[in-house]
Amino acid sequence: MKAFGLTPDGRETHLFSLRRDGGFGADISDFGGTLVRLFAPDRHGELADVVLGFDSVRGYTQPTCPYFGSTVGRCGNRIAHGRFTLDGKTYTLATNNAPAGIPCHLHGGPGGFDKVLWQAEQTTVGGDPVLRLRYQSREGEEGYPGNLDVTVEFTVTADQALRIDYSATTDKATPVNLTNHAYFNLAGEGSRSVLGHVLTLNATRYTPVNAGLIPLGELAPVADTPFDFRAPHTVGERIDRPNEQLRFGAGYDHNFVLDGSGSLALAATVLEPLSGRELEVLTTEPGVQFYSGNFLDGTLPGKNGHTYPRRSGLCLETQHFPDSPNQPGFPSVILRPGRSYRSTTVFRFKAR
Ligand code: BGC
Repeated sequence: MKAFGLTPDGRETHLFSLRRDGGFGADISDFGGTLVRLFAPDRHGELADVVLGFDSVRGYTQPTCPYFGSTVGRCGNRIAHGRFTLDGKTYTLATNNAPAGIPCHLHGGPGGFDKVLWQAEQTTVGGDPVLRLRYQSREGEEGYPGNLDVTVEFTVTADQALRIDYSATTDKATPVNLTNHAYFNLAGEGSRSVLGHVLTLNATRYTPVNAGLIPLGELAPVADTPFDFRAPHTVGERIDRPNEQLRFGAGYDHNFVLDGSGSLALAATVLEPLSGRELEVLTTEPGVQFYSGNFLDGTLPGKNGHTYPRRSGLCLETQHFPDSPNQPGFPSVILRPGRSYRSTTVFRFKAR
């Protein structure tokens, strides 16, 4: 464990290293449950840090931090107009995002789980390095109902994977949708673009959005659209096609409906052909937000003196669908007292 700097209100934050022999592993902070570094080997065994981020906590505390490696919650992705009704009561949440000038609540709000200090415990389970993070989110925090107890457990496994297990309980019904917001660049953070990354998504349908990036409610087929990644395509191949959905997202910024459901299933594969690094994403979640880093603009001073231009990182945010609290046709994100929220995502690395 190392010091990672002070929060704006003067609290100490830390960085925890979880490593395997050979160097595969992750550095994770108790501030925001943030995945700060993730080292994976290329086809020659050369390690690179494959996630975008900052060298100290200060970068992550800025309101302009685009959720680099963040643990996102209480309810990830967008909620239209920052409003939802649950059991007859309407709740108003902060609106911290406004695509096309249409306000919404994004990623749990300005004081979401990415901006809080988690309680950390570093341990090993069955020989695997583990970081267990806990957070108690109070009733009314960011406008949400109920006290929520959350645990996020990061495990670095022998098969070169980072597994993230989320669990939560509540004392009042509340929406919960937890994810990690890592921006991957498999050529190494600081490489200019992810447009040459080859992506496969195990999704026959996706959730098209309006100009405010709120789903229309339909599960539309990807067939015959630039959203069809059932066979591998580079990210860049169709990203600039004249297509209303790509125009709304300024590229890919859409939730895909995964074909595997319920059990831990392969959601996505990403190959970076020059290094040979390949990432497999497995999840128990029904959806994944594929975001091609369209709003990165090269202005933030990132790790190792790097800046991150547009489309220099991509996110695969395993999740329930955006705006679920307002979309009766989507799988429910409502957690009730006496029930447990559970979700698992695995980021597994290979080299070709
Ligand atoms: C959203 C993007 C947003 C980004 C950073 C993604 O999950 O889909 O629209 O710009 O997060 O906030």
